This record gives sequence, structure tokens and C-alpha cells, in this order.
Amino acid sequence: MAAAGSAVGLGNIWRFPYLAGQNGGAAFLLIYLAFILLICFPVLVGEIAIGRHAGLDAYGSYKKIGGKKWGLLGLFGIISVALILSFYNVVAGWAFGYFLEIAFGDLLRQSDFGTFFGNYIQDIGSSFWFSLGFMVITAFIVTRGIQHGIEMANKIMMPLLYIILLGMIVYGITLPNAMSGIRFYLVPELGEIRIQTIFDALRQAFFSLSLGMGALITYGSYVKKDQNVVSSAAIISVADTMVAFLAGLMIFPLVFSVGMQPAEGPPLVFVILPKIFQDMHPFFGRFIGASFFLMLCFAALTSTISMLEVPTAYLVDQKKLPRKKVVWILALVIFIMGIPSMVSQGSPGFEFLNKLGFYQQKDFMTFISDLADISLTVGGCLMCIFISRRWKISQMHEELSIGNEHYRHSFLRSYISFAIGYLCPIILGVLSVLIILDKFVGL
Ligand code: TRP
Repeated sequence: MAAAGSAVGLGNIWRFPYLAGQNGGAAFLLIYLAFILLICFPVLVGEIAIGRHAGLDAYGSYKKIGGKKWGLLGLFGIISVALILSFYNVVAGWAFGYFLEIAFGDLLRQSDFGTFFGNYIQDIGSSFWFSLGFMVITAFIVTRGIQHGIEMANKIMMPLLYIILLGMIVYGITLPNAMSGIRFYLVPELGEIRIQTIFDALRQAFFSLSLGMGALITYGSYVKKDQNVVSSAAIISVADTMVAFLAGLMIFPLVFSVGMQPAEGPPLVFVILPKIFQDMHPFFGRFIGASFFLMLCFAALTSTISMLEVPTAYLVDQKKLPRKKVVWILALVIFIMGIPSMVSQGSPGFEFLNKLGFYQQKDFMTFISDLADISLTVGGCLMCIFISRRWKISQMHEELSIGNEHYRHSFLRSYISFAIGYLCPIILGVLSVLIILDKFVGL
């Protein structure tokens, strides 16, 4: 449940729809699903297996199985997770702000939501307090041990999130021109596939499943020996993919019904949804809108918790520091690391942060998120190499058979051998190099 909570987050509801919108819709969905099934699922199983086998944080697990040098791979993941959390928390702050502004403010009385969103994220005052608030809540839950906070969020909020998504889908389909949206999202035009579509689908699949950074090693270390890792991994993948799929199915009919462009980029969800809530009955629109953004906050919260837990577990396990202190210091440091991302969205006085990059101008937040995405796929590739060269695939199978009697003779076992041994490291290695050339060298 906790790992599913880590996986389901802004990645599913905010990032997946806008990337799909920029990459031809259905073509993106198709490639994304193929990556989840063929590449991410085996990597997910491997990552949890490492954690459960070693029973330690990301660094400690690699070091225990593979020696000091492999520990560096764990450290690499821990640092990348902190980078992701730094900008993720800013976006979570926007969602938190939207919840408050819809529930108690007059957001739904705006006339142009595109301009409103642009101004909103430039306004350092509100961004600062909302993301600080979000980080404080995250840290508070992590100090108390993650179980209580996560359980509440998952058992109550996840089902509600599904219900709101389903309700919005049904509502969206009844709007005029919704079918164009459905066609865009579900009927692939294979001629539309560009190499960018493949890159974006891969990094999004990794991001969405929280893979490649040791987050699932850390959670795997809390998994008991009688539990079935393979079926847990299947549940996590299905729950996560379902939410992303439903978010797309909700957004695209709405986009087409209001006559907007699907390739709107990061503002997509923040611009379309308020417009739709505004067109509903005033009380109803406010209620549904506020509930939606509240669910989004909870989904984001179970993800930020998992991210903060990774460096926390490292410092508590390895350096024997007191948990409470570690959490608050990390939260403060990571919050400060997020400030450049926060002000890079057009805040006056910080224009130099929106035009970075060597060949293609991007803002600081996009730069950090591109950098972090690369470390996910590189981390995943190295993890496969770690399993097959250092730990050995047979050892991983041993671990996976514990709590799962049928595993030894299953087809999955053969597929996972092939995937971890060959398919994943090769595809991840080649695509990571290509993505680096594309994003950072301009080739
Ligand atoms: N998967 C989360 C989402 O989709 C984000 C996330 C949480 C994450 N923990 C992570 C991404 C660790 C990478 C690594 O919103």
C-alpha cells in the first residue's frame, strides 16, 4: 500500500497527461504501457527484492550485498531523490494552493485560467508558503514513522481519488466534442511516433513507478519474508498505471470539449480543470473542484513522504542519527534546494533562471527535472547490472521464491531472468545515452 502510494502522485495526474498531450496521445499511451510491462515491471521486482534481501536503506543494501563501491549507486539514488523532491514539492505546493483557492477563495470566478496560472506560479509569496506548508506536513508524517500517515492517506484517499476520476470521466464524455478527445487518447496513429515520444514515455514510466532511485529498496526493506514480492509489484504497477490511464481519459475529452490544445505542457491540468469546474453549477463545481485538488494533494503527499524517507533511512541506518532531527534538517535543506525551481517560473527579478541551458532554453525547474529523470533510467540500468553481475540473478530468484511457492516454475521467472540480464540494461543503457544527447548536448 505504501509503495502504491509512493507511485501514485503528481506524476500520474499532472505529468502523465501533459506528456501524453505533447506526444500524440494514443501513441504515447501505447509505448508507455509497453515500457511498464516489459521494462519497468522486472526492474520494480528487482528493486524490492534487493531491499527485502538486505533489509537496509538504499546505500546500506547495495553495500551489504555488493561492497563499498556499489554503495555509491545507492548514494547516487539518494541524492537524485532529494533533487526530485526539491521541485516536486513546489508543484505539490501549487496543487495545495489550488485546493485552498477553490475551496475558500475566488479562483473559480476567474475569466482566463491560463493567465491566472501563469501569474499564480510567478507569485513568490504564495508559492513559498504553500510549498513550505507542504514540506512541513510531509516532514511531520515522516517523523512519526511513515505507517500511520500513509495508511490513512491510502485507505481513504485513494478510493476517493478513483471515484472522483471516474465521475469526471463520465461527466467529460457527455460534453460536446468529447469523442475527439477519446480518439486522440485511444486511437494511435503510428506515424505520429517520434523518437521524443519514446524518450518521454520511458522517463515517465520510471518516474511514475518511483523506480531507479532506491525508494523501493527502502520500502522493500520493510517487507516481511512471508509476503509475495512479485504479486505486490504487480499490484503496485496496476494501481499506478490505472490512475495515469484514468487521468488521461478524464483530461482529453475535457480539453477537446473546451477547444484547447492538448500540447499545453505543464499548465494543462491546472488550466483545464478549473475551467470545467467553473462551468458546473457553482456550489457543485466548488465542491468537486476542491475535492479533486485535495485528493491530488494526498496523492502527492504519499509520494513526498516516500522521497523524504529515502535520505532519512540512510542517515538513521548508516550514521545512527536521531530520526526526528534528521527529518527536519533534511526537509529544510531540500525545501531550500527547491527555491530556485520555485522562482524560475517567471518571478520578477529571477528572469535569469528561466532561460538556462546550452542549446535549448529551459527554466531551472525543467532543467532539474530533466537531470533527475536521467538519473532514474541510468540508476535502473546500473541496478540491473548490479543484480546480474554482482548479486547474481539466481540469488534474486531465491529471494523472490520466499513467500511465493509457485515462482520457481513460473513463466515470469524466465522472463525476469531475461529482462534483468539482457533486455532492461541494454534498452535502458542505450536510451539513457540518447536522452542525454538529446536533452543536454542538443544532438
Ligand atoms: N512516483 C511519484 C509520482 O508519480 C513520484 C515519486 C515518488 C518518485 N517517489 C519517487 C519518483 C522516487 C522517483 C523516485 O508522482
